[in-house]
Amino acid sequence: MLERNMTVEAAVMENPKVLKEIQKLGGEYDFIAMESLEDALKSLGEDYDLFIKKVEGQADFKDMDRVRKMSKEEIINYIVEEIHPQELATTEKIDEIFRGAIKKYYRERGEQLFVIYEVLLLIKAELVSHFSSEEEFEFKDALAGKKVDFENLLAEHEKTIGLFDRLKYLTRDYKMNAEEPEIKELNKLMGELDEDMRRHIYIENEILFKM
Ligand SMILES: [Fe+2]
Ligand SMILES: [Fe+2]
Repeated sequence: MLERNMTVEAAVMENPKVLKEIQKLGGEYDFIAMESLEDALKSLGEDYDLFIKKVEGQADFKDMDRVRKMSKEEIINYIVEEIHPQELATTEKIDEIFRGAIKKYYRERGEQLFVIYEVLLLIKAELVSHFSSEEEFEFKDALAGKKVDFENLLAEHEKTIGLFDRLKYLTRDYKMNAEEPEIKELNKLMGELDEDMRRHIYIENEILFKM
């Protein structure tokens, strides 16, 4: 993952698009390779977060202006009271629809659905455990003003994103071809959960963990 304080050289090795974008901004790689990514962008008159979004091809997540104005306590409350419960509820709902659909359409597409459902269950297990850890340990410590090591959570975020990438691939970008209402509903709910999860992880990695 790209970090503010890594050198431009390390950032380019991490993601080759960094070089292309820096050149577009008029930067000369040889002169800035050993500078920190953040300083190099500043000297090129570019906003760090905007640059990351461009390079990582992230869509603009909704309602971020409000989140960026929140304090650490407010962000943690927002995540614990709104984001975590909503995402778990959506995951549960998707699980339920899957079970019904596999049974109902077993002959026609039971196997296809099963492969996707397996990934969904891995996501569900990961989220239940990850959210519990955040709520019981890291976030509690952060609220108590302790210094918190976020390494573990960062690794789990990467794993979660990997699982969503897989889900996205298997469902062809959440466009499983179907007339059945349950499958259409699954497309919609999984697409929403994917977007929500990427936004949630962005808020934690890029805002909360850096406070
Ligand atoms: Fe979280
Ligand atoms: Fe998290």
